[in-house]
Amino acid sequence: MNLSLEEARVLVGELKVKLNHYHPVMENGNGTSMPEVVLFPPYVYMTRILDLFINHQGVSVGAQNCHHEEQGAYTGEVSASMIRSVGATHVIIGHSERRNQFLENDELLAEKVRQVLKNALCPVFCCGELLPERERGQHFEVVTGQLQRGLFWMNQARFSKVVIAYEPVWAIGTGVTANPEQAQEMHAHIRKLVGKTYDQETADGLSILYGGSCNAKNAGALFVQPDVDGGLIGGASLKAGEFYEIVQKLNEISN
Ligand code: PGA
Repeated sequence: MNLSLEEARVLVGELKVKLNHYHPVMENGNGTSMPEVVLFPPYVYMTRILDLFINHQGVSVGAQNCHHEEQGAYTGEVSASMIRSVGATHVIIGHSERRNQFLENDELLAEKVRQVLKNALCPVFCCGELLPERERGQHFEVVTGQLQRGLFWMNQARFSKVVIAYEPVWAIGTGVTANPEQAQEMHAHIRKLVGKTYDQETADGLSILYGGSCNAKNAGALFVQPDVDGGLIGGASLKAGEFYEIVQKLNEISN
């Protein structure tokens, strides 16, 4: 819940100019692929931002949340089908602020994921432990439970459409980042769980993003970890230059 429309336009306008430079890099590349960039503006700005990126290969737009029902009398809520109808492609589900401030539990989040997939959108499912849970050494157990209840109810075909974001709650918006080893060990844990629940191919194909005070300075060390496939960027995405540097880091590392 940051920025007025005008401020958001300036931010995204600057970003667009930078991402335009990025295109030739991809096209001249020798068969390498550019990381996908997804922007998640507040609902009210989504259509404006979508208009700016029409036909811009490699950049798409998503929503930060959605309601768990298909449609109906839910004043103030936004459905996955509405999000789909404006041309967005992704929805963040279960961000820790939704879980902790709006008391969204994994059962509700599972219903949201169901709606998102039903509407042919990609859910970016967030998981992560609170600081006291890590201090008690329960972080693997907490994340395992979140994934089992939130995602593992579905079959492999559906699961292969999901992206997971590991976001330790103590790292979100705090300036304290999980160190690369902490991120890697949790990402490896998640991939292993997915391998056991589904199969190795599904685990290998899964994108696991890291989120929590990721910035231009620490992104390289995080992205270079074998199981860190990208980032979910909060504060640093409010500065076009910094966000673009993060995208470039990922591009360098993945190619
Ligand atoms: P942060 O936010 O990068 O500012 O820590 C991450 C998030 O909100 O997902």
